[in-house]
Amino acid sequence: MSDVFKESFDIEAGDFASAGEASAKIKSILRMIGIDPALTRRVTIASYEAELNMIIHSLGGVMSVEISPDAIALFCKDIGPGIADIDMAMQEGYSTASSDVRMMGFGAGMGLPNMKRNSDEFSILSDTNGTRLNMRFSII
Ligand SMILES: Nc1ncnc2c1ncn2[C@@H]1O[C@H](COP(=O)(O)OP(=O)(O)OP(=O)(O)O)[C@@H](O)[C@H]1O
Ligand SMILES: [Mg+2]
Repeated sequence: MSDVFKESFDIEAGDFASAGEASAKIKSILRMIGIDPALTRRVTIASYEAELNMIIHSLGGVMSVEISPDAIALFCKDIGPGIADIDMAMQEGYSTASSDVRMMGFGAGMGLPNMKRNSDEFSILSDTNGTRLNMRFSII
């Protein structure tokens, strides 16, 4: 028997109707197993931002959550154009979102900075084939 719980969610590009579903499921899993509400909130904010970025900016991908006794990890892997300048993308307020996307309330350029702020470890790798994002949240 393993003490690591894993679950993966497919994220479809442009699927605004399902936006937030994966992070809502992650939130309910964390609640159900009794993870501290403040930690659950940080993970949920980060997973929501990552999910939306895949819907808006990528051609689709997978978000996985891994829960072990000492940490929660989020792994996001998408295919798509990738991020040309990661340093720029990490800056608050930087966004390439279209005006249509902005009209839906996205595109403030706050997603990546929020993920970094809310996670204990954050790493991002991106090239013209897609983006990989790993986040780790320590338990206790
Ligand atoms: N998975 C991704 N694939 C390709 N580009 C991405 C991806 N995630 C982020 N980006 C690029 O990085 C920029 C900054 O992302 P960030 O999440 O900080 O802001 P945003 O998505 O534009 O706006 P907000 O998250 O506030 O709605 C995006 O505008 C986009 O250019
Ligand atoms: Mg975003």
